[in-house]
Amino acid sequence: MSKTVYVGMSADLVHPGHLNIIKKAAELGDVTIGLLTDQAIASYKRVPFMTFEQRLQVIENIKGVTRVVPQTTLDYVPNLEQYKPDYVVHGDDWQQGVQKNVRQSVIDCLAQWDGKLVEVPYTQGISSSALHKAMKEIGTTPQIRLKSLKRLLSAKPLLRFLDLHNALSGLIIENTRVETANGAQEFDGMWGSSLTDSTAKGKPDIEAVDVSSRMNTLNEVLEVTTKPIIYDGDTGGKTEHFVFTVKTLERLGVSAVIIEDKTGLKKNSLFGTDVAQTQDSIEGFSAKIKAGKLAQATDDFMIIARIESLILGQGIDHALERAKAFLDAGADGIMIHSREKTPNEIFEFCDRYADFENKKTLVVVPSSYNSVYESELAAKGVNIVIYANQLLRSAYPAMVNTATSILEHGRSAEVDSSMMPIKQILELIPGGK
Ligand code: SPV
Ligand code: MG
Repeated sequence: MSKTVYVGMSADLVHPGHLNIIKKAAELGDVTIGLLTDQAIASYKRVPFMTFEQRLQVIENIKGVTRVVPQTTLDYVPNLEQYKPDYVVHGDDWQQGVQKNVRQSVIDCLAQWDGKLVEVPYTQGISSSALHKAMKEIGTTPQIRLKSLKRLLSAKPLLRFLDLHNALSGLIIENTRVETANGAQEFDGMWGSSLTDSTAKGKPDIEAVDVSSRMNTLNEVLEVTTKPIIYDGDTGGKTEHFVFTVKTLERLGVSAVIIEDKTGLKKNSLFGTDVAQTQDSIEGFSAKIKAGKLAQATDDFMIIARIESLILGQGIDHALERAKAFLDAGADGIMIHSREKTPNEIFEFCDRYADFENKKTLVVVPSSYNSVYESELAAKGVNIVIYANQLLRSAYPAMVNTATSILEHGRSAEVDSSMMPIKQILELIPGGK
């Protein structure tokens, strides 16, 4: 009887390195590919470009592959125990980095039936990471970007978004990445904050920056990034106007709009009850959500209802009643906001929201309760965490510090060490030379 060989793979951007591994595996026996699901891949790196079904179609037609089975976790052990292969074949590049422990558990598991791990030398000159970088440089299309939020939501338990206010902030969100013990960490997308967009334009956050101007900021960002955008739609304005905003956002490739259940002159939520703010009626806001849902052209765009009950001191029951009504009106999710220093009221809302039968995507903005960890929010059922203003809030003091230092010293040398070197700014945006 021929030997059996197991190969775990994402098979997203298939290149000669993959084919080399499959060829080596086929020399050893019948090859079963454990095709990692989107969830398994997203647990340690970015969500793949192609869906599971598309990747399946590619890989099952490659020479040397006998069958393909799903691998639902990064950990190979459940599938290895089921299929008990004689060999596992893998590239030797997992001896370091996040997959090191996964590799060790494969070796330990195989030892139970005398199976062996065979490692194939890494194919130089080609890698998924390099292909991914090249694809990013080409950019994306509005349709792909629009859909990407729903794909991310179905692949990852928690997404993190960060505020944009111009193209440069978008680039920071697009490119910042850290390697941690739990794999590479990145922001999943960008929050088109009304507060930071207005502030960057020197205007208050009262819907004084009109929708056309907000779209200009989005356009700048869309031009140089690929990640999904959630747009802060403030109150959505008049229902008759909101439907046009929905159509424009969809056309641009924005994935979602969040509108808040306030009416009249909007003030920033973090003022709470220090300023006069009026909450819309359940009926009025539900009608706006319904009109928006009818206006959208695709099934992929999301309209998320933001509830201001906690901000306005109305309590959790009030917020939950609204959440239920807005979901019934067709909202694709709920954003619950709070300006408390602790996450307690948010946690209580989450616990009770978890019992909803028709619950959908849950979004929070931990600006004031900033000691909370993402892991705690995820455990409470939160799907998206928005860091709504941190980029602008960090840029402003740095710039004021520089301006002050130049005035104090009559030159810029004293502040030079806190600035980016000239060479770096010249090369920050490729293509300038
Ligand atoms: C924004 O970022 O503009 C928001 C969140 O709407 S908050 O400022 O907290 O209201
Ligand atoms: Mg806002």
